[in-house]
Amino acid sequence: MKIGFSAPMLPRAGAIIVGVFDGCEFTPMAERLDKATDGALWRAIKRSRFTGKRSQTLTVIAPAGTKASRIVLLGLGKGDNFDELAAQAAGGTIVTTLARTGDKAASVVVDAITGSKLSASVAAAHVAYGALLRSYRFDKYRTKEKTEDKPSLGTLTIATRDAEAAKKSFAPLAKIADGVFLTRDLVSEPANVIFPASLADQTKALIKLGVKVQILNKRQMERLGMGALLGVAQGSSKEPRMVAMSWDGAPRTREKRPVAFVGKGVTFDTGGISIKPAGGMEDMKWDMGGAGVVIGLMKALAGRKAKVNAVGIVGLVENMPSSTAQRPGDVVTSMSGQTVEVINTDAEGRLVLGDALWYCQEKYKPHTVIDLATLTGAIIVALGHVHAGLYANDDELCDRLTAAGKAVGEPVWRMPLGDEYDKQINSDIADMKNVGGRDGGSITAAQFLKRYIKDGVQWAHLDIAGVTWSKKNAATVPKGGTAFGVRLLDRLVADVYEGK
Ligand code: BES
Ligand code: MN
Ligand code: ZN
Repeated sequence: MKIGFSAPMLPRAGAIIVGVFDGCEFTPMAERLDKATDGALWRAIKRSRFTGKRSQTLTVIAPAGTKASRIVLLGLGKGDNFDELAAQAAGGTIVTTLARTGDKAASVVVDAITGSKLSASVAAAHVAYGALLRSYRFDKYRTKEKTEDKPSLGTLTIATRDAEAAKKSFAPLAKIADGVFLTRDLVSEPANVIFPASLADQTKALIKLGVKVQILNKRQMERLGMGALLGVAQGSSKEPRMVAMSWDGAPRTREKRPVAFVGKGVTFDTGGISIKPAGGMEDMKWDMGGAGVVIGLMKALAGRKAKVNAVGIVGLVENMPSSTAQRPGDVVTSMSGQTVEVINTDAEGRLVLGDALWYCQEKYKPHTVIDLATLTGAIIVALGHVHAGLYANDDELCDRLTAAGKAVGEPVWRMPLGDEYDKQINSDIADMKNVGGRDGGSITAAQFLKRYIKDGVQWAHLDIAGVTWSKKNAATVPKGGTAFGVRLLDRLVADVYEGK
């Protein structure tokens, strides 16, 4: 969908969307249109349940007195509560309301919002951003969908008094949306298309944005001693990869050490020899969700030229059962030198991350490491599909992530760490085992990762198993791959690391 900005005006064709506050309080343009249509809007309201509550809509089709195909009244709720997320949700609602009406173009008028902390131009930018995010569709494999079944809306114009200022506020948001879309694409692709080598190849597209991309193949990882990651990969005919992406956007005078993001990239997780049941196994194509977020995040940061030094590392493997697969009971030696008894080959994400985290710290000396992984079913039991599980060795980092999550609508919830949990992964024959039993399964997985974090490094782990894929549509996130984490970490970077 194309997004444009213009000065407020009555459109000559297509749909027009105007806001109405709670209690049927008209915005200036709604007022103007009501007059032009000889009160058609009020008449429609009186015959409906529309009150202007947030995300309510009421469509008046082809009213006399305008050339618009329809006028959509959009409930904005109370002006005081109209924040960035409300503006984005409004944009999303516009897209869902108009997608299938047959209209190719629509204009939404964003006036000053009384009581809101947002200026009209910032609100306009966030309406555009929400609409763009909601317009995403992964339809490349639908060859038989008829044109009349596809969304018709191709252009959305945001009409607002200071269109130039709105356009300027929107520019970085559009770059974040580019990153979100890349992540959603990668997560949606099936595992016969996205496998370690092909996913690694996709990262090369970031080079033209100024990102340095280094791809390690199996031989290079063998030389580095990444026995934990390689043990997972050995059951698959698809060779593993590790990709390191770096973006150096910080001015020279500032902190040189980067913030690092590390993602689990299991391009398909059958469970290996500890094989998963058949029902729902197709979901495991998105077990590379953490890696997808890291790649999309690097695209967003480079796209908007963030003033930060950031590194993104993804460990890419396929977890398959075969005669070459690792067995339960195998002992592997990770790059850190620590040995792991592999009790369950389905607890593979932590094995991949152990080596990726260690490599990241050895090579890039980051001050902060944040990893993302669709790591455990246990986090879904604990938090459902709303919050991502957050683990951290630093309270301040934890608070900042929580705040960033709230601001962008990607909420996280802190979970505990502690010695008692750590003990659960002690092994009788190696330094640790890769599972700690059913109880506290997401916590013991986090404890495993913590054993790969060096002293003095601020670390957070996001278990995104419950939030990477969504079975229902939300305001700005259509069902499917959500890209949960891209907006959150982009915001964290903007709030905390840029300008440091
Ligand atoms: N990729 C899965 C976790 C997962 C489950 C993600 C459901 C998304 C939805 C992970 O590799 C896994 O299999 N974890 C096991 C760990 C267990 C064997 C200790 C799990 O959660 O069951
Ligand atoms: Mn698994
Ligand atoms: Zn997995």
